[in-house]
Amino acid sequence: APVPEIRKGLAGVVVDTTAISKVNPETNSLLYRGYPVQQLAATKRFEEVAYLLWHGELPDAAELAEFRAAERAGRALQPNVKAAIDLLPTTAHPMDVVRTAVSVIGASDPTTDDASREANLAKSTSLFAALPAIVAYDQRRRRGEDLVPPRDDLDYSANFLHMSFGEVPDQVVVDAFDVSMILYAEHSFNASTFTARVITSTLSDLYSAVTGAIGALKGPLHGGANEAVMRIFDEIGDAGNVVPWLDAALAEKRKIMGFGHRVYKNGDSRVPTMKASLDTLVAHYDRPDLAELYDALSGEFVERKGIHPNLDYPSGPAYHLMGYDTETFTPLFVASRVTGWTAHIIEQAASNALIRPLSHYDGVDERHV
Ligand code: CMC
Repeated sequence: APVPEIRKGLAGVVVDTTAISKVNPETNSLLYRGYPVQQLAATKRFEEVAYLLWHGELPDAAELAEFRAAERAGRALQPNVKAAIDLLPTTAHPMDVVRTAVSVIGASDPTTDDASREANLAKSTSLFAALPAIVAYDQRRRRGEDLVPPRDDLDYSANFLHMSFGEVPDQVVVDAFDVSMILYAEHSFNASTFTARVITSTLSDLYSAVTGAIGALKGPLHGGANEAVMRIFDEIGDAGNVVPWLDAALAEKRKIMGFGHRVYKNGDSRVPTMKASLDTLVAHYDRPDLAELYDALSGEFVERKGIHPNLDYPSGPAYHLMGYDTETFTPLFVASRVTGWTAHIIEQAASNALIRPLSHYDGVDERHV
């Protein structure tokens, strides 16, 4: 039989509609519910963007106050989740820890199998509220430090940094962190979001979908790239080593992490905004050497291959400057993208069809034992 047309990796295949975000590689734009992400990053806080992704509209003052109160009420690390994390070795990858923690939350929630919109919105808000404590505590225990309880007087990002480091950094750092959360929040049918939708399409529960999505995000071709970028920076050392390092890496046919994108071929629309935040951090922490390395590698790679940086390229060094361990970078992405994942889970559940594609068999012909 003739082989039907196969699009490896579903490249270019449109599998469903969505009203959550629009990626337009031609105009290099990304819209969340119609709003350009750059505008949201410049004028809104991450809490407002999370609300927007779920509800389709930005919150008014009363809605925002109510939403913020719900988020603050859900910040503390629950004892059973802490106990589960403490059972895991500190050598476990933080993505494995976050994945396990979400699984524990799902197994402990009596409403897990209630897939109504209201129940899923409530679960989404509580996961959004709970993830910072999980990510922050896991990094602290690795460093031999104690849990830092949340502070109710702080916004999401300031509190996240406070729980991570035991102090609130200067506002420029909080702002850069908040921008990264907004930029990472949503990106249409990327691999992890699609994973969440596949799981939801079987009428499984929201926590199972998020747990699966975390597994998909971990890989270096997807979210794991922000961690991989920093490892490359460590390997190269300083700007002067970029050319010989790149010669060797390309000769070995290595993928240069933080560059390239399945959808954007002329540059990632989120990069200029995150790069501007990285520039403020470089100035704040007085690390011009990092900026030089950043520019040297991207300049050289773009010139040689014409492949542009993606969001993970500026966000990796930004999280490094804030003081995060390299292996914590992708869990930070989880804390943000959980908003997009859950928006898609709710959308998928509202107009569901089981996602079950076909394959073309190319194994041995029928035979008999
Ligand atoms: N380094 C070296 N070569 C590359 C890279 C890269 N980063 N990206 C693409 N190429 C080459 C690739 O080898 C291929 O060359 P050839 O045609 O000679 O075989 C060509 O460009 C097309 O690439 P592709 O892998 O077929 O394209 P894709 O759409 O399947 O890949 C990608 C997209 C993101 C998987 C890929 O660019 C990549 O592996 N990048 C590095 C990992 C990374 O930064 N991922 C983060 C993605 S964006 C944000 C996120 O999800 O976190």
